[in-house]
Amino acid sequence: MLKKIGVLTGGGDCPGLNAVLRAVVKTAIGKYGCEVIGFKDGYHGLVLNEWIQLDLSKASGILDRGGTILGSSNRDNPFSFKVEENGKVTYVDKSDQVMANIQSHNIEAMVLIGGDGTLTSARDFSRKGLKVVAVPKTIDNDLSSTDVTFGFMTAVDTATEALDKLHTTAESHHRIMVLEVMGRYAGWIALESGIAGGADMIIIPEIPYDIHKIADKALERQKAGKNFSIVVVAEGAKPKGGSMVVSQVVKDSPDPIRLGGIGQKIAQDLTEITGMDSRVTVLGHLQRGGRPNPYDRILSTRYGAAAVELIKNKKFGMMVSLQGNEIDAVPIEEAVGQLKTVSPESELINIARSIGVEFGE
Ligand code: F6P
Repeated sequence: MLKKIGVLTGGGDCPGLNAVLRAVVKTAIGKYGCEVIGFKDGYHGLVLNEWIQLDLSKASGILDRGGTILGSSNRDNPFSFKVEENGKVTYVDKSDQVMANIQSHNIEAMVLIGGDGTLTSARDFSRKGLKVVAVPKTIDNDLSSTDVTFGFMTAVDTATEALDKLHTTAESHHRIMVLEVMGRYAGWIALESGIAGGADMIIIPEIPYDIHKIADKALERQKAGKNFSIVVVAEGAKPKGGSMVVSQVVKDSPDPIRLGGIGQKIAQDLTEITGMDSRVTVLGHLQRGGRPNPYDRILSTRYGAAAVELIKNKKFGMMVSLQGNEIDAVPIEEAVGQLKTVSPESELINIARSIGVEFGE
């Protein structure tokens, strides 16, 4: 039977993290009488051995709470961990320290909840002999080997609501309204919110855009009596032959590039070409905050409970995953490294094309 497991939440936070933790704790304690401890702030707490006891009272009342009660970090890589001594910064492999910390707690296995960065380290720990299982988290929905990551659908909800609101003001002022959404190198949030929110133009990294095609669409709509347009653009979008707009480089992060600013560029270019007034809204971290929607609460609960079952069944090195409507498990090795991006010939893109959405191709 199970005696003690550990858990952490790593990478950028997203709605549903607490719902996963709740399901892990309730299943581990309630079903298997197993003790659970949680490490603080992702791998940071695992390296520094900072943890809290996760008992049933800690897991109570958190199903609908955004963020994570454990804290998270998207800067700490245990295999190249930032250490500051006498004002000098070095990057040190702390993976042996992590192994020792886990052993000192008599933890049988770890549940690592995260996106590509967190799960790449999960894979490396698994290769080192640590017993780990993983849960796929990210609003970007860009993890391979699962149909959906938890947090994504809530981010799509938030972006859709923003598009609904932008519609009414766009119409009143006869403007082009540009909404910039997150997603890193994948266009999932832009595509799905764009369709749900009735965007006229959707610009995603997977389909480099020609600004003139976007402008033509706005002018065509104007001619037809629709004197406003709604554009949703993914932060990772780029013009044909051009590159993504980088807003920041976070040196000690496993993926140091932070994207942002493409919305502003598109709005300016569109005003120059069309003569129409335009405004840009950058939705930013609003997409990561707040209550998970019912879909994410259910998915997170399924993932959390399934992760404990994987440990119970000694299926280490595996990630819980959604395949169609079923919860399954796939090797972590297969889930990382290769991002899941939008195929320009996917059904959803073709449906959008059929209803007249302009991708700027
Ligand atoms: O991966 C989640 C995400 O929100 C991306 O969509 C975005 O590019 C990035 O994290 C932002 O990171 P940070 O929280 O460091 O600004």
